[in-house]
Amino acid sequence: MTSPISRETDENVVLFFDTTLRDGEQSPGATLSSSEKLEIARQLKRLGVDIIEAGFPAASPDDLAAVQRIAQEVGTEDGPIICGLARAVEQDIRTCWEGVKMAARPRIHTFLGTSDIHLKYQTGLTRAQAIEVVKTNVALARSLCADVEFSPMDAGRTDPQFLVEICATAVAAGATTLNIPDTVGYVTPQEWGELIAMLVAETPGAGPGSGVIWSVHCHNDLGMATANSLAGVVNGARQVEVTINGIGERAGNTSLEEVAMALQTRPQFYNLRTNINSREIVKTSRMVSNYTGMHVQPNKAIVGANAFAHEAGIHQDGMLKNASTYEIMTPESVGWTQSRLVLGKHSGRHALKVRLHELGYELEKEQVNAVFERFKVLADAKKNVTDADLEALMADELHRPVEYFKLAEIQVTCGTMGMPTATAKMVTPEGEETIVAAVGTGPVDACYRAVDLVVQCPNTLIEYSVHSVTAGIDALGEVTVRIAEPASGRSFGGYGADDDIIVASVKAYLAALNRMVAGMGLGTKVQPEGDAATVAISAGD
Ligand code: KIV
Ligand code: ZN
Repeated sequence: MTSPISRETDENVVLFFDTTLRDGEQSPGATLSSSEKLEIARQLKRLGVDIIEAGFPAASPDDLAAVQRIAQEVGTEDGPIICGLARAVEQDIRTCWEGVKMAARPRIHTFLGTSDIHLKYQTGLTRAQAIEVVKTNVALARSLCADVEFSPMDAGRTDPQFLVEICATAVAAGATTLNIPDTVGYVTPQEWGELIAMLVAETPGAGPGSGVIWSVHCHNDLGMATANSLAGVVNGARQVEVTINGIGERAGNTSLEEVAMALQTRPQFYNLRTNINSREIVKTSRMVSNYTGMHVQPNKAIVGANAFAHEAGIHQDGMLKNASTYEIMTPESVGWTQSRLVLGKHSGRHALKVRLHELGYELEKEQVNAVFERFKVLADAKKNVTDADLEALMADELHRPVEYFKLAEIQVTCGTMGMPTATAKMVTPEGEETIVAAVGTGPVDACYRAVDLVVQCPNTLIEYSVHSVTAGIDALGEVTVRIAEPASGRSFGGYGADDDIIVASVKAYLAALNRMVAGMGLGTKVQPEGDAATVAISAGD
């Protein structure tokens, strides 16, 4: 069976299948709006991924609509393949086709659990029945779409001989890519490499020269996802399924940035190429982190804040003499711009626009105006406005979720005397201004209690983190929060940046709350109590 993927048939190229918008979005708290998904998809295209798994169209009408939009707007002739996920059931596959068919190069990705554990406890199918389900549904997918991927879910714990049988069935029914998932992150690199080598060699109709592409999809439960994916590549896989920052179910998926940079940094070892434009990596990482509210740990390879920081004296000494002493790749090669001084308070709108353009942002006039207002305030407070500051402003200004509730003003008193108290002026979804005040255990707690008086969406704060964008007392503060809705346990993230960390904290909290309002379908139900002049005092418990 010949793959319909034409531009990348070179067997020395590893294809990048990005599933940030599907598996990544399954991370607790990573719910994305459809416009955020579209923006991420556009950035993934700039990053050079070969395939975008845009979502799971049968999951909800919103998911379907988001996949359709990405298929139309990003899946252009010069763009990536746009893929949708579908269980191996007729309705899912037909809905998936509705999602992706507008793309210049659509793909249907269908899957079925094949381990004895999944067959026994999840689907109740016998192995013989599973073979029939795969045969019927892969054939259905292929009748709709020339590019079909099949995944035997939980392959890492599936009997290898049954895996051969299932994969051969899928290829005979029309699958063009066979993706082997280690769904629960269980295998070791050596086992995984051997399994992939065996499948490539022994699956009828899918060996070298068949045109079938072998793919690996590894989860990170034991921290081995990147090592396992690379072991798969060494043993014949030519597609890796990855997410930005490694987000995904539980401990996440393989990180795109880690596999891409391993292949790029060690050409003598791997001797393989990719279509990834590594200079877009950091920007993509920040976008995904900001939209999902999932903070990147400082020591994360490639994209963590400390990935290129040198602390020990001997390391700094070496770096000053020659960067190759302690750096195996340059920060610029993955898109870390030198935090160089770019603009100041005398810089005008045009200079700002030009610099933002250089950083890759194409803005409408109103967007430039909005960012310029923020820039002026920042430049007044802080002499040196760096690229990192601008990126944070962009994230805060342009990437907010739909704002049902808005912050107009906030004031806090705190210190060693008295109770931390916050007074907030908020704008409700009906456009009314409401002023509230609350006391709390600290200034952030007081602010959040004040906001709660207006928004009235009970939630639990499960994560709060603050850090400065650049060094210095006048640095912008970035805050990410995660809140959970108590009844369902669903969690929502938010991001805020400001030169005042209390304001950044409130922005992040409101962003998460607004996502919760949207995600729980509360947009029309939430009605703040009291009139515009209400002053309510909430004593912390
Ligand atoms: O982890 C997994 O098995 C998956 C499949 C749907 C490919 O995400
Ligand atoms: Zn997965």
